[in-house]
Amino acid sequence: MATATLAADQVSYEDLYARWEKGNWSATGIDFSRDHHDWHGRLEEIQRRAALWNYALFFHGEDSVADNLSPYIDAAPREEQKYFLTTQQVDEARHAVFFGRFMNEVVGTGGETIADTLERTRPELTWGFRKTFERLDRMADELRADRSKPKLAAAVTLYHIIIEAALAQPGQHYIEDFWKGNGLMPGFQEGMENVARDEQRHIGFGVKLLADLVREDPDCRYAVADLLREVLPYTTALLRPPPGGEGYAEALGFTLEEIYTFGAQSMESKLAAAGLPLEELPGRPPLPYNLTHEQRARRGLLFLRSGVIGEKLGPPSSDPEVQAELFDALRMSVVHQKVAVEPTTVQWDFSDAAPWFLRAHNGSTTVEQGRLEQPDVVIRSTFEDWADVAVGREDARVAIAKRKLRPKGSPRALWRMTKLLA
Ligand SMILES: [Fe+2]
Ligand SMILES: [Fe+2]
Repeated sequence: MATATLAADQVSYEDLYARWEKGNWSATGIDFSRDHHDWHGRLEEIQRRAALWNYALFFHGEDSVADNLSPYIDAAPREEQKYFLTTQQVDEARHAVFFGRFMNEVVGTGGETIADTLERTRPELTWGFRKTFERLDRMADELRADRSKPKLAAAVTLYHIIIEAALAQPGQHYIEDFWKGNGLMPGFQEGMENVARDEQRHIGFGVKLLADLVREDPDCRYAVADLLREVLPYTTALLRPPPGGEGYAEALGFTLEEIYTFGAQSMESKLAAAGLPLEELPGRPPLPYNLTHEQRARRGLLFLRSGVIGEKLGPPSSDPEVQAELFDALRMSVVHQKVAVEPTTVQWDFSDAAPWFLRAHNGSTTVEQGRLEQPDVVIRSTFEDWADVAVGREDARVAIAKRKLRPKGSPRALWRMTKLLA
């Protein structure tokens, strides 16, 4: 593993730096006069609302990544890495200036300072966005206090892999396609092309740095897997439009299924290029790699729409499709962790939803709706309390201590269940 040649090795830090010099552009030089005319005269109302929502996420995202990159420069072990990261910080500031100008000069949000313009567009931010970028703020603080390779690997996974590759890059792709296709908003098109080219370079660098860190310190794998498990339940919610914004994606020429599929594909390929294929990450699998990217996107959206993940506004839906997907994820997690146990059966007895059971054998594990005659363990709970544990909203031990989950069985069987579902 340590000597394997990775996709990340095909580019050098020096190349990446040289590409930055060649790719320099001016955010203050872009001419937005046609865009102003198109925005107010040619766009439909829903397109304006959708674009304001979507580009406000970019504006605030660029502001946050510009502010939070400094500790990465300090923590990077090599000079070449530090130099590239300083160029990236300049880029992120330039991107924020570009989106800030767009808000002021095209949309007309107003605002004397960048802070003013940010404030005026803040109501557009989604719950998933706020959670994701609050985590990035905290990550920057953690990295200031701990410059170790595992901490830097987790930080790069959040910044370069999740925020840049899985969330921003798919958005940029559809934005470029959409405006190119209808010939409107030429200034914005030009800026977005430059932003997308910069981001591609940043992601290429992040993948390379991550590959080097993982090779140099085996603990990095654990740090990356932990980070993914922690943040995916809310980063997945970032692009979910607000109530009333159900048609936003379509108004901008794509569907949520398409953009989530793109994101799933982008994240997996970057992790693999860094020597971290999903199926080799330690512990509970952060992503259902047994599914295609499209199926993964559909499951993510189903969990979001049914309230299993995302902002908690009440109990999640327990309809059969949601239950089936949740128990399939559990089955896959048991199979992935290859826990060697005696055959064990676990029955879920929900007070408010259909019962399910799991039959674990070495080599084959199945889940099914229904009731077993004599299960080794019975778990009683509401569907909501179980779903919270299953997606990591609540720790299993805490839920048991609070009596939200009430497992019953012989001490031996309970111990086997803990190993299976840990
Ligand atoms: Fe950026
Ligand atoms: Fe970037």
